[in-house]
Amino acid sequence: MKIMLNMAMGMMVSVSASLVQAQMKPAELTAAQSAFSAYGCTSCHDASSRIVGPSLKEIAARYKGKKVSAEVAKRIVEGSEGRWGTMPHPSNAALNQADAALLARWILAGAP
Ligand code: HEC
Repeated sequence: MKIMLNMAMGMMVSVSASLVQAQMKPAELTAAQSAFSAYGCTSCHDASSRIVGPSLKEIAARYKGKKVSAEVAKRIVEGSEGRWGTMPHPSNAALNQADAALLARWILAGAP
């Protein structure tokens, strides 16, 4: 019984992981990961711990199930303040809309 349960849990985990990945193509994942470091996001954001800004895990958890990728993309470009703490997220004029949209989707998908 316990073995069966573990197998079922394992299947659930792999199904949900593949669902997340199904939303983004492998090429998009790679592009998002490299944009995230190319634009210097890594100096304030880490996958799982807070640096200056919230961790990618926290962001994904807060907006889970909500259709907010357009607003989040806008805040990535224009800046954000007061949603997570006292530190502001700077505006980033060098970031184009397509990359911002890609980064927002990737972060909201849990930054796989
Ligand atoms: C100088 C530090 C810094 C840099 C660089 C930075 N961020 Fe942020 N980011 C923050 C802080 C601080 C917050 C929290 C802002 C707030 O409280 O509203 C934040 C918030 C966010 C949020 C959550 C916004 C929301 O809607 O709740 C996302 C997504 C995000 N950043 C993505 C990025 C991406 C992508 C990059 C690179 C293009 C980046 N950040 C670069 C500091 C930074």
